[in-house]
Amino acid sequence: MRTAHSASTVSTGIAKVDRSSTEGANQEISTLAISALKKAPQRTSLDALPLHPSEQSFFIKPFKSDLPKQPHSAPPYIFLTVITVNSTQSPKGRPPKHVAIIMDGNGRWAKERGLPRIEGHRRGAEAVKRTLKAAQENGVEIITLYAFSVENWNRPKVEVDALMSLLDRFLVDQLPVLIKRKIRLRVVGRYKELPEYIQHRLRKSEAATAQFTEHTLALALNYGARTEVVDAVKAIAQAAQAGSIDPNTLDYDSLRPYLYTNDLPDPDLVIRTSGEARLSNFLLLQAAYAEIYFTSVLWPDFDESHFKAALADYASRERRYGKTAEQLQVS
Ligand code: FPP
Repeated sequence: MRTAHSASTVSTGIAKVDRSSTEGANQEISTLAISALKKAPQRTSLDALPLHPSEQSFFIKPFKSDLPKQPHSAPPYIFLTVITVNSTQSPKGRPPKHVAIIMDGNGRWAKERGLPRIEGHRRGAEAVKRTLKAAQENGVEIITLYAFSVENWNRPKVEVDALMSLLDRFLVDQLPVLIKRKIRLRVVGRYKELPEYIQHRLRKSEAATAQFTEHTLALALNYGARTEVVDAVKAIAQAAQAGSIDPNTLDYDSLRPYLYTNDLPDPDLVIRTSGEARLSNFLLLQAAYAEIYFTSVLWPDFDESHFKAALADYASRERRYGKTAEQLQVS
C-alpha cells in the first residue's frame, strides 16, 4: 500500500465499508479517499463520489439497503482521517490535471478484422467519446488528443478525406454533449491549413464552448511539435523586430505564449496506444516532464478500464523535475 507524505491538512469523513475487507482497510481508505474527499470536502460520505483510479470497490462500497444487520458487530460506517497531500512534485493520490493521448492502432485494428482502415478510425472516434467521459469522471481536467498530425497529409487522399469527414461528424454530434458536460473545445495546430468546412465547424464549436473553464478537450489537428516551434520562432523574431520583445530576456516562460498550447498547462501524462514507444512529434516541449505510459491496446479498443490503468500507473510515479527523492521528502 502506498502512503502519502508531505501531508499537512487533516480532515475527517465517513465511509461505508465492506467489513470483510482486509486488516488495514481503514488506512487504505484514508489514502484512497484523498482525491474523492478533496473534490467534495463538504460531503460526509464517499457514496456516489467519483473514485480515484487507484480506489478499489473492494474497499469502498456504495450504500446498500440490503446490507445484513449485524447489531453486535461494528457498524458499517467508519471515520476516515483524510490527509491532504501538499507536495507539488508527487502525483500520488491525485489524478493528472492534463492527459495527452497519441491514439494509435486504428489501421491495425481494422486490418486484423479484414475491414477498411476508415472503419478503424470510425471505431477510434467511439473510443474518443468513451475516453472523454472517463476523463471527466476520473478528475482529469484537460485531455489533448493527437487527432491529425502534419505528417498525416501524406496518407492516401481517400483516408485523409475520410478522417476530415469523420471529424466533421464528430463535431456535429458531440457539440451538444460538450455543452451539456461543460467542456471547452480547443484546437492546437496549424488551423488555417485545414479544409475550410472543418475550420468553420471548429470555430463554431470553440465559440459555443468558450465559456467553460473546468474541462477542456484539446484536439491536436494539423499538429507537429517541430512546426509549432518554427511558428513560435517566426512570431518571436517578428515581435523582436517590431521592438515588442527583447530577445536577450527571452526564457521558456516568455516563449510559452507563442506555442499553440499557450493557454494550456503542460501535460502531466502522455498515453500512447498500440504498443509503439515513441512521441511522433507530439508536444515535444510541453511533455518535457510528463510521465509517459505505453499500452499495447489498439486505440479502437481503448476504454475506461485502460484509462484507469494509465491513471493508476501515473499515481505510482514520483515526479522529481530534476530534484532528488530526498529533496522532495522535505519540500
Ligand atoms: C493513428 O492510427 C490514428 C490517426 C492518424 C487518426 C486518429 C483519428 C481518430 C482516432 C478518429 C477521429 C478523431 C476524432 C477526434 C473524431 P493509425 O491509422 O496510424 O493506425 P496504424 O498505425 O495501426 O495504421
